[in-house]
Amino acid sequence: MGLQEPPDWDKVFGKTGPLELEIGCGAGGFALEHAKKNPHIRSVAFEWRKKYAREVAFRAEQAGLSHLKVIEGDARMEVPKLFKPGSLAVIHLQFPDPWWKRAHQKRAILQLEFTQYLLTLLEPGGRFDFRTDVQDVGERGIKVLESAGFHNPLGAGVFHPYDPEEAPSTRERRYLATGAPVYRARLVKP
Ligand SMILES: C[S@@+](CC[C@H](N)C(=O)[O-])C[C@H]1O[C@@H](n2cnc3c(N)ncnc32)[C@H](O)[C@@H]1O
Repeated sequence: MGLQEPPDWDKVFGKTGPLELEIGCGAGGFALEHAKKNPHIRSVAFEWRKKYAREVAFRAEQAGLSHLKVIEGDARMEVPKLFKPGSLAVIHLQFPDPWWKRAHQKRAILQLEFTQYLLTLLEPGGRFDFRTDVQDVGERGIKVLESAGFHNPLGAGVFHPYDPEEAPSTRERRYLATGAPVYRARLVKP
């Protein structure tokens, strides 16, 4: 039976608090550390690769992180069924697959229509946390986010500096170790 309306996340988590969404958590480095550092939030992380989704869910359970839920599935299909407009405090998209081949570009998360839709899910003042190691993906992504109506407090097209307070993702950890560049954007819903 399909879901008629989004779940009551207060009931699912058994508590209230800011609700955060992560798209494509991969091996879960960010999801797990962010949940550990922020026991007051509730996080829902999507990952379509079964192996990763199950592993991150298992590690969350082992670590007693009941305020982190991992959903195995395509975020583009599932997110619209699961969240009410204005219900999210933060959306995280870190190191999305760059989809180099033209035929695969339709799989990209940051396309104008879906990005506009993600904006509606955030509460006013809610944040979009975007990170990538591919400069072109970063530049195009920040443009799409701004065109969709996100505000960049640093100025149009300006990347956010590294913030050591933010948990790094699994992939980001590698780049921090080698010093390879990472392009970060932190935009807000006006
Ligand atoms: C390059 S990896 C980055 C993983 C992680 N965010 C990190 O920084 O280490 C991108 C991840 O997004 C997942 N992914 C891509 N498109 C997705 C979608 N539509 N729904 C759910 N997961 C997706 C991939 O399976 C992959 O694990």
